[in-house]
Amino acid sequence: MPTFEIHDEAWYPWILGGLFALSLVTYWACDRITAPYGRHVKRGWGPAWGVRECWIVMESPALWAMVLFYSMGEQKLGRVPLILLRLHQVHYFNRVLIYPMRMKVRGKGMPIIVAACAFAFNILNSYVQARWLSNYGSYPDSWLTSPKFILGATLFGLGFLGNFWSDSYLFSLRADEDDRSYKIPKAGLFKFITCPNYFSEMVEWLGWAIMTWSPAGLAFFIYTIANLAPRAVSNHQWYLSKFNDYPKERRILIPFVY
Ligand SMILES: NC(=O)c1ccc[n+]([C@@H]2O[C@H](COP(=O)([O-])OP(=O)(O)OC[C@H]3O[C@@H](n4cnc5c(N)ncnc54)[C@H](OP(=O)(O)O)[C@@H]3O)[C@@H](O)[C@H]2O)c1
Repeated sequence: MPTFEIHDEAWYPWILGGLFALSLVTYWACDRITAPYGRHVKRGWGPAWGVRECWIVMESPALWAMVLFYSMGEQKLGRVPLILLRLHQVHYFNRVLIYPMRMKVRGKGMPIIVAACAFAFNILNSYVQARWLSNYGSYPDSWLTSPKFILGATLFGLGFLGNFWSDSYLFSLRADEDDRSYKIPKAGLFKFITCPNYFSEMVEWLGWAIMTWSPAGLAFFIYTIANLAPRAVSNHQWYLSKFNDYPKERRILIPFVY
């Protein structure tokens, strides 16, 4: 691992605070404008690039920038920080390298502006998470047997599995790469809510916030809600407008609640 040092004691709290503030802005914006990708893609957002390529590039900072910023921390060789880093990387190994390869989106595009915003966000978030893990947090070996770590890691693992399964199930609804149709999902948690992939992603980052017990983890959990909750509402309304037989009792995001 390369060794660099940064002295960001004065501005780390401001950037961390900025991530909290960005959640408010993101919620405000996403509540008014549904990000134009996937089923909500629209003309008028400038040049587009392939969906698969966009996902790989825009999410990639969570792998390389995360490791880069992590390597600048004084506790980078600590046992617990390294375990937390690896758990984080499991999620993003899937999101950056596996998820895009499994999508059935041949010929579809995403506006470059959307991918650029996600790319910038992932650099910012990687910085905040990584600097906390390897520099500002304090994680003795006994952290691994603490209730916070055990509960958080359990939620993180369940959230990851739920997210992976939900995305996989959605992929299975299309026959092949050239199938552009949308179908009503009917299995698993989809019986109860429209967006189990978002719900489980939120559970995952709640787990992360608990197992790192950090303002950085909390900020990313809140950001995830701010980003995904309004989109879940848009997805739900989209299904209701496209399918007359969409189950009326199905909730949007949280089983039996919302
Ligand atoms: N942490 C965060 O802030 C954050 C932000 C955004 C996304 N994510 C995660 O990234 C993943 C993807 O997000 P997304 O918004 O693209 O999810 P999505 O709208 O549910 O789409 C996921 C994939 O399934 C396909 N699909 C969705 N509904 C389908 C249906 N009814 N029939 C057939 N195919 C269907 C989509 O194709 P099309 O692309 O053709 O619609 C896309 O390839 C999710 O796991 C989400 O949790 C996380």
